[in-house]
Amino acid sequence: MDVVMIRIDKYLADMGFGTRSEIKKAIRQGLVAIDSNVVRKPEEKLDPERQKVSFAGKSVTYAALEYYMLHKPAGVVSATEDKKERTVMDLLPKERRKDLFPVGRLDKDTEGLLLITNDGSMAHALLSPKKHVDKTYFARVRGWVTEEDRIAFRKGIDIGDEKQTLPAELTILQAGEESEIRLTIREGRFHQVKRMFEAVGKEVVYLKRLSMGPLTLDPSLSAGNSRQLTEEEIQALQRQCHFISSVYMTDSRTGEDKKGEK
Ligand code: URA
Repeated sequence: MDVVMIRIDKYLADMGFGTRSEIKKAIRQGLVAIDSNVVRKPEEKLDPERQKVSFAGKSVTYAALEYYMLHKPAGVVSATEDKKERTVMDLLPKERRKDLFPVGRLDKDTEGLLLITNDGSMAHALLSPKKHVDKTYFARVRGWVTEEDRIAFRKGIDIGDEKQTLPAELTILQAGEESEIRLTIREGRFHQVKRMFEAVGKEVVYLKRLSMGPLTLDPSLSAGNSRQLTEEEIQALQRQCHFISSVYMTDSRTGEDKKGEK
């Protein structure tokens, strides 16, 4: 296996020990050691898998990849930074790696499950338009949601993009002046759920993501809170990422299943 050496100042910054300049200062003060040898230069490199680092006498536990489940509240943006708005990153614990990012976006007013990680290849696999990872939402919709809407969503509808949406599974939980529904989509187009309802003359007034692939929002996590994923959850996501390299897609014209491309 390849040995990946990284600079000690980057390693400590990624692990959340401060900015690069704060870390340089700590190094000058002799607070950082690799394998019990005090580090003198910020450009000194180490093998994080094999060497042990300490900061101010405390040993640093290295986690190459981190995975958080956030129950995103309304009112924060799905970005790593923003000049004006509070971001989902502001809701994570302070002592975390600094190279984390949200996997995809939820609108500012959407709540629910958001995966935050620094695992770029997992994020890529989950977001790839070819992989069709299921995303399930709960929504309150202004207007009477009908069986015709269910059939239309099942066939795929025109939301003004080049292509129709892929078949989506609509469950009507309660139909009325304001309806409650659950919807599973297999894409992640911009404002997709809202635009699908707009296309059938209705308005989403509340939207919450319940699941993404095998990952389900933990009901004990209230809005604004996060936790690290369990080992089982990480493994389920990894399985999904490997497994979905060959998927079955449904032909949007005929409604028949056909073998999808990689
Ligand atoms: N669809 C939307 O319209 N908004 C979201 O935030 C997610 C899916």
